[in-house]
Order: sequence, then structure tokens, then C-alpha cells
Amino acid sequence: MSIEDKIALVTGASRGIGKATAIYLADLGANVAINYSSDEQGAMSVVEEIRKHGRKSKAFKANVSCMEDVQAMMDEIRQEFGGLDILVNNAGITKDALLVRMKPEDWEKVIDVNLNGVFNCTKSAARIMMRQRRGNIINISSVIGLTGNAGQANYAAAKAGIIGFSKSIAKELASRGIRVNVVAPGFIQTDMTGMLPQNIKEELLSKIPLGRYGDPMDIAHLVGFLASDESSYITGQVINVDGGILI
Ligand SMILES: NC(=O)c1ccc[n+]([C@@H]2O[C@H](COP(=O)([O-])OP(=O)(O)OC[C@H]3O[C@@H](n4cnc5c(N)ncnc54)[C@H](OP(=O)(O)O)[C@@H]3O)[C@@H](O)[C@H]2O)c1
Repeated sequence: MSIEDKIALVTGASRGIGKATAIYLADLGANVAINYSSDEQGAMSVVEEIRKHGRKSKAFKANVSCMEDVQAMMDEIRQEFGGLDILVNNAGITKDALLVRMKPEDWEKVIDVNLNGVFNCTKSAARIMMRQRRGNIINISSVIGLTGNAGQANYAAAKAGIIGFSKSIAKELASRGIRVNVVAPGFIQTDMTGMLPQNIKEELLSKIPLGRYGDPMDIAHLVGFLASDESSYITGQVINVDGGILI
């Protein structure tokens, strides 16, 4: 499997799933732009690691929920890297609360980053990809977007929104040589899940048929496959990577 010399952008790549994915895409041969919003040190360490692998990399600070930031980042990537072949929309946040306690700003913030951010980056990248007549977009949703979860109405709405959005644009962009797929992770060990209380983590673990939490590399491996030509007949799909939790 190879994506030799392809140009990739991974949003929210300063840590967690985005970091593992960016490094794996570089392992497969891509030059990788690293997006972050505040963790400059984390982003720079990913850039350094990718450069050690002999691939081009640069960090771009941009809040994905801000279209001006995103457009400026895409313009810079086009100038510095010469185009864009692979977009991984990974940046995401949680602001959990039961509906009755959910503040409107917590609803808006999660929709802004997790859903509007995907719209902003995809719209901006699609312009470049349509001109190239090739491209590959991989959106990171969640099993929560398929099942819902008490205390995560904002997050579930955003992640379900990503699925409808992705299926729609997969239909729009297929004739331009652009594929769009969704990865829906289950419980993956990162900072995002690290903040959950121990009893919730144990309860979740008991529901995972494969008997372990996911590792960021479990997601990276599927993204690498979807980004490669080995998956060239797959578009508009949602693929769960969840240890069987949704069986
Ligand atoms: N972990 C799981 O179990 C799990 C399960 C299902 C789905 N997911 C999804 O997988 C993705 C990655 O999750 P993770 O667990 O790796 O999270 P994480 O460790 O909390 O990392 C989140 C990343 O997103 C970036 N980010 C946050 N807000 C941003 C913004 N406005 N603009 C640009 N970047 C921003 C962060 O960068 P800064 O620190 O610089 O802000 C960070 O690099 C998310 O979309 C998440 O919803 C995760």
C-alpha cells in the first residue's frame, strides 16, 4: 500500500488520532501538512517526526471553525506543497452535558468545530481537488453519531451530520475523481477519552467484544487504506473501527 508523494492535510494533528494518522500517512510516503489550533509544541513534534522519515511537513495554525483561517491555510498549503490530494477532517472536541444543562454556547461550539469545521475544510479543499480532478477526503465521525449517547446530544448531532454531509458530497464529487469516506471510531485511548471517569471507562470496556480499547493506530491504518489506491472503488461509506461495540 502506498501513497508515495501525495500531499495530505490532517486537521487536529497535534495529538491523539490526528497525530498517529499524520505520521502513518508519512510512513506510507505522503508529505503531510499538520493543522492545530493551540498546541503548537505538539504540532511541531509531529512535524519533526515526519521530517525524520524523510517526508516534507509543516504545521499550520488554524481554527477549523473559522472559514478565513481555513482559506488562508489552504492557500499556504497550495503554495508550499503544490496542491492537496488527501484531506483528513479529524479535529474535534467534546462539551458533554445532559440536554437540560447544556448551555447554548456548548451546543454551538461543538457544532462549530466538529461539523462546520468539516464543511469549511472540505469546501476549501474541494476547490483545489476539483481543479486537479483527483482527491480523497476522509472524515472522522464517531459511533456516537450512529447510536446517540446521553450527555452528548451536541457531539452526536455533529457526528451524525458529518455522515449525511459526506454521503452527499461523495455523490457530488465522484465524477471529479474525488472520493469521500467516513471513519467512525469507537472508544480510542486519547486525551479526549482520558478525561472520562474510571467507572464509565470500565463499563464501556465491558461492552467491547474484542475486549480492549482502541489505539489511535487502529484508526490510522484504516485512513491509510482509504487514502490509497487500494480502496479506489470505495466512496460514500461509513466504516466503524470499534472493537465490535456496535455488533
Ligand atoms: N478518542 C475517541 O475515542 C474518539 C472516538 C470517536 C471519534 N473520535 C474523533 O476523533 C477525532 C480526534 O479525536 P482525539 O481523541 O484524537 O482527540 P484529542 O486527543 O482531544 O485531539 C483533538 C485534536 O483536535 C484539535 N482541535 C481541536 N479544536 C480544533 C479547532 N477548532 N481547530 C483545529 N484543530 C482543533 C486539537 O488541537 P489543539 O490542541 O491544537 O487545539 C487536537 O489536535 C475527533 O474528531 C473525535 O471526535 C474520537
